[in-house]
Amino acid sequence: MDIPRRKFDTLIIGAGGGGLRAALQLSQADAHVAVVSKVFPTRSHTVAAQGGVNAALANVRPDNWHWHMFDTVKGSDYLGDQDAIEYMCRAAPRAVYELEHFGVPFSRLEDGRIYQRQFGGQSMNFGGEQAARTCAAADRTGHAILQSLYQQNIRAKTHFFDEYFAIDLLHHHDGSFLGALVLNIATGEKLVIEAKTTLLATGGAGQIFRTNTNALINTGDGMAMALRAGVPLQDMEFFQFHPTGIAGKGMLLSEGARGEGGFLINGDGERFMERYAPHAKDLASRDVVSRAITTEVREGRGCGPNKDHVLLTLKHIDSAVIRKRLPAIRDLALTFANVDMCDEPVPVFPTAHYTMGGIPTNRFGEVVAPVEHGPEEAMPGLYAAGECACVSVHGGNRLGGNSLLDIIVFGRAAGNQIIEFLGENRYHQPLQDDCLEPALQRLARWDNKGDGETVADLRMELTKTMEEHCGVFRTEAVLSEGVSKVLALQQRLPDVCIKDHSQVFNTARIEALELENLMDVAIATIMSAQQRQESRGAHSRIDYPERDDVNWLRHSLYHKTSNTVDYKPVRMKPLTVATFPPKPRTY
Ligand code: FUM
Repeated sequence: MDIPRRKFDTLIIGAGGGGLRAALQLSQADAHVAVVSKVFPTRSHTVAAQGGVNAALANVRPDNWHWHMFDTVKGSDYLGDQDAIEYMCRAAPRAVYELEHFGVPFSRLEDGRIYQRQFGGQSMNFGGEQAARTCAAADRTGHAILQSLYQQNIRAKTHFFDEYFAIDLLHHHDGSFLGALVLNIATGEKLVIEAKTTLLATGGAGQIFRTNTNALINTGDGMAMALRAGVPLQDMEFFQFHPTGIAGKGMLLSEGARGEGGFLINGDGERFMERYAPHAKDLASRDVVSRAITTEVREGRGCGPNKDHVLLTLKHIDSAVIRKRLPAIRDLALTFANVDMCDEPVPVFPTAHYTMGGIPTNRFGEVVAPVEHGPEEAMPGLYAAGECACVSVHGGNRLGGNSLLDIIVFGRAAGNQIIEFLGENRYHQPLQDDCLEPALQRLARWDNKGDGETVADLRMELTKTMEEHCGVFRTEAVLSEGVSKVLALQQRLPDVCIKDHSQVFNTARIEALELENLMDVAIATIMSAQQRQESRGAHSRIDYPERDDVNWLRHSLYHKTSNTVDYKPVRMKPLTVATFPPKPRTY
């Protein structure tokens, strides 16, 4: 087969914060690293993270990593693995100072230290008063981090394949992973990247929902590649709805708005969060605030002519503070809601935001999974980090500010683990041609297809179905109908129309490949949601309103080949401290 081949020590698929942090660790250790990204790296979705990154620096209020750990375990509704959570929270201060030294322009306090704002679910002293733990660069923290990491990678000579799309992982019959087949998006040329180790860092899959905060590129590509390679996806039923998307549109208005003193009001002008979370109020955990807003609207206390949203008000805050701390979301509200938040409240409603589940890994970034119901094992040469992975530090509900932390801590950890692997595995394994077959067949399926419905129409139907059947509140009837609908949509996929890409553009084929990925991830999500008969974190079942630790304190694993879900235990034991046992979760 005459497809060009390139060889690297490590192939990283995805150039967001997780991929770039791992790449930097590797390149600085003189590993030969390729980063493949379907967009120019600094357009990766990390760029859109607004509010900040959590670390117990104690710059504004007293703090320590153990309180951060407690909040994260509680926020996860006790589904997070406590060894990984301890590791992340302990590593956070060093990780943030490292970013500062990479050049991230954090906002500053009067005395020059890093500015930290209040975010939801944060407390001092294990559930006491509100903490201020989120290190911010105004409301453009992700943008600042991504630019700095990219610059550091250029300096360290990481090799970038910009605007290349990964078709599928290459793996041997013995289970080892050997790289990927990728496609140059502009030219349609194929390239085989052979690698001793492959790291998936492709981000989340918010595009399975119609209204979301995610970039169009967030199509769950890495998760779907893992599924096709026989790796199950963990805890996919836990999808985070951010409380404050611009109503009807979905763009993110950072939790930083409430952290700076903004609050929510309903159609009666009531500050309703006081009823749902008497202590934390508007800074309760995201799942709690999203359910509260949805309940207000369902019970007729929404705002506007259709009573279909609530209002986020900041007009009591000095406009100089808004301009200094929240300039980007003020612009967003001006552009998409035609509202200046210095003067008027902004219409908001929960919007799909973050994939808590993903490719199962341990805290070293190794993909660790039972292959089709067998014993759990590390997949040789395969790693994952960031939103596409499930370590699991977020469990049933992620705390705001912990996603940027997750990517930098576990990106670095995966880089270190890969360096160790490379030390012991110095030579490339031979890549047989038959390893390429599944990836080539996948691509060939989308060559000049016929004249059925369009990719865009099918994608819209999928995302609407997910929104209607797998939203903030769920029931057996609604989920079962949703499962049937999504499986039926998948049947229609092979007949979608791709116009001749030599005439239209090669991106038509990429959109079909992305839709195939979205289908796989959507099925994993809604199937896992249908099976979990309890309410925990962001998975809220009206028919099973209580958390059920006896039967359901366990991670789900969705397998594509058998289209089934099974379960594995939560790692309740931290590394050095005592377990935080499950307790009723109130804010
Ligand atoms: O609200 C926000 O700024 C989002 C932060 C996050 O998802 O961590």
